[in-house]
Amino acid sequence: MVLPIAIVAVLFLSLLAFAVVFALADGDFTLLTARPAKREEIEGKVVWITGASRGIGEVLAKQFAKLGARLILSARNVAELERVKAEILGKNSSCEVEVLPMDLTTSEESLRESVQKAESYFSYAGVDYMVHNAGRIPRLASALKITEESLMTTFQTNVLGPIALTRLLAPYMLKRRRGHFIVISSAVGKVHSPFQTDYCASKFALNGYFHTLRTELLHRGIKVTVVCPGQIDVFPDIGDDNPLPPVPVERCVRLIITAAIHGLKEAWIAKQPILLTMYVMQYMPSIGFWVMDKVGAATPEPSATSSQKKKAT
Ligand SMILES: NC(=O)c1ccc[n+]([C@@H]2O[C@H](COP(=O)([O-])OP(=O)(O)OC[C@H]3O[C@@H](n4cnc5c(N)ncnc54)[C@H](OP(=O)(O)O)[C@@H]3O)[C@@H](O)[C@H]2O)c1
Repeated sequence: MVLPIAIVAVLFLSLLAFAVVFALADGDFTLLTARPAKREEIEGKVVWITGASRGIGEVLAKQFAKLGARLILSARNVAELERVKAEILGKNSSCEVEVLPMDLTTSEESLRESVQKAESYFSYAGVDYMVHNAGRIPRLASALKITEESLMTTFQTNVLGPIALTRLLAPYMLKRRRGHFIVISSAVGKVHSPFQTDYCASKFALNGYFHTLRTELLHRGIKVTVVCPGQIDVFPDIGDDNPLPPVPVERCVRLIITAAIHGLKEAWIAKQPILLTMYVMQYMPSIGFWVMDKVGAATPEPSATSSQKKKAT
């Protein structure tokens, strides 16, 4: 009789410990059990980051610089890219940084020129990590009110631009039999969130493309890591009206780099309840769909001025 009680007690305590760990988690379990990146794993690597002029991309650039990477920074705003570069060099003057202005909505010819330039930097070292981070986060809006122009810009920035860049860069990587695409997707690339049809669809498309690409190219030396963050604290002015607890951007970026150096195929970075929703949607989709349908019914239609960044992304 004593033995079964002991077993039940151990089981209960284990379940309790698991519940506490899960409640406090800010990433999926594979990611959280992986050790952080060491300098020797990144030092000297050429890392090309899109969307490096602010937000997650800026912090990615700074953390990769600290680990000794050689950086190529892209976005449209040259002044902001130069600011990021100056801040990196201000902390470490020996860091090698190139600014490569680029608009993801531009022509394939222009993207081809960008790829040729990126490949030529640092004495033609070639890109080791391509971080597809740039993205357009549209305003929350009813599916029927999103204009065609907005939809096209979202897909061009979040999907077609990164795909075009990948198709142009991958042949160089294949020649070296080495290269790694780190794709910053979103929790809404896993969970359908109301009033974000355009953004959700773009991130689902991104996930589909890059997971499929990996199945074709992994055996030829090309890795793909798809990262799905939930709400990230890139805007200190978000304030108390933010209903979902954000992950600090520095922590998010540390986890992104951890996912990359371990070659994880997918990584989730989010606090509760977003993380729980992602697990439910992945492992019990029928319940996930039911829950999100209820969320949709309970969510008032956003006004024209609602900010997307105040909701889960
Ligand atoms: N913040 C979050 O809570 C969150 C959560 C999940 C996923 N994400 C994803 O994480 C990524 C970064 O998000 P963030 O919050 O850091 O966004 P952000 O602060 O709005 O920054 C977006 C970056 O993308 C660049 N960009 C936008 N349009 C571009 C274009 N047409 N061509 C080239 N660059 C362009 C912007 O630079 P320019 O304006 O200078 O071009 C900027 O550097 C995005 O893919 C986003 O979907 C964010």
